Amino acid sequence: MRARIVILISGRGSNMAAILAAGLPLQVAAVISNLPEADGLELAAAQGIPTVVVDHRLYPTRAAFDAALAETIEGYAPQLVVLAGFMRLFTAEFVARFRGRLINIHPSLLPSFPGLHTHRQALAAGVRIHGCTVHFVTEQVDHGPIVAQAAVPVLADDTEALLAARVLRCEHVLYPRVLQWWAEGRLEDQGGGRIRVRGSFRSSGSLMTPEPDA
Ligand code: GAR
Repeated sequence: MRARIVILISGRGSNMAAILAAGLPLQVAAVISNLPEADGLELAAAQGIPTVVVDHRLYPTRAAFDAALAETIEGYAPQLVVLAGFMRLFTAEFVARFRGRLINIHPSLLPSFPGLHTHRQALAAGVRIHGCTVHFVTEQVDHGPIVAQAAVPVLADDTEALLAARVLRCEHVLYPRVLQWWAEGRLEDQGGGRIRVRGSFRSSGSLMTPEPDA
């Protein structure tokens, strides 16, 4: 039987779309959003995937929202909860309930630039290499065990928008790939906050930037 996942979104849903388009050996049981206006909902519905809104604005506390969200998720009995641009912080109770089953993509090379406006942070810091990270979620925001990362160069004339677009293209490749590994049972928790991906595959080489003139 195929493993079941649910995907949580808050907006555009381009990572969700990349996951749906990848033909992964898993079943997307539902797409859940905390915002009814999230564009990704329509896209998922158009593909016949059940969509649900748990609007955080209707709950008096973060704990009440998280409890309702958790109940909704559990109703689909997923083995993995995939955060794809889900822009809400969780309570420790929620994280504990889904420990080891909650995975996220973050638009920076963690542990650099947690939080919001990661591309602006990267430009301000003057780094030459930036990217994205897929990691399991723990109580400490944007600090859980890292599964995989993808890197891009930061170019001299970059704007926040250009850099964001370059990173996003990597996100759309990296996240489906990680979910494929997960579905194949290749992610091994080694303890101490480290994940190993079983099986051999080559790295695609080094990224050095800027490069010297020819
Ligand atoms: C993505 O860049 C994702 O990495 C980021 O939000 C964007 C969602 O885009 N997530 C976070 O910042 C989480 N802290 P999408 O809705 O088009 O996938």
